Amino acid sequence: MIREQPVVAIYPGSFDPITKGHEDVARRSLRIADRVVVAVAQNASQTKGNLFSVEERLEMVREVFQDDERIESCHFEGLLVDLAREMGAQFVIRGLRAVSDFEYEFQMAQMNRELWSEAETVFLTPDQRYAFLSASQVREVSRLGGDVSRFVSAPVLRRLERVSEE
Ligand code: PNS
Repeated sequence: MIREQPVVAIYPGSFDPITKGHEDVARRSLRIADRVVVAVAQNASQTKGNLFSVEERLEMVREVFQDDERIESCHFEGLLVDLAREMGAQFVIRGLRAVSDFEYEFQMAQMNRELWSEAETVFLTPDQRYAFLSASQVREVSRLGGDVSRFVSAPVLRRLERVSEE
């Protein structure tokens, strides 16, 4: 099969902060896409009180993926499907860890399909090492002085340490 257009995927999320689980999912998505755009949501649907500003979250994403030019990043406000349309994305990538993720993810995928049916949501499971990992746990463990170096990359760890010192 000859493909004329590159396959573009969007990987949206809060990324507050980006964890090794997110990183793993973004890198895995290159198995189905030529380019992946990690899209940092200014305001996610389920607001959880962000630790980092959208600029900080985006900067960490950029630092983490600076080794791979196929992984781009941006931030967005408004509807994900509008961004997907603008970027010409064929896929929306979401990580799926446990059954507990499923209901929310399923609803979101269905709503996005209602709004714009051109992009398919694809769920990827992270490596087993990160199957339990969440950004909220990373924030909490870090805030309480626990070691999160196994769960986030160096640029993220530096920021978390800086926040804890403040
Ligand atoms: O990492 P998160 O917080 O689970 O990501 C949720 C996110 C950002 C993907 C979702 O809240 C979103 O797409 N927000 C943009 C607004 C939107 O398009 N809402 C309709 C989807 S139901």
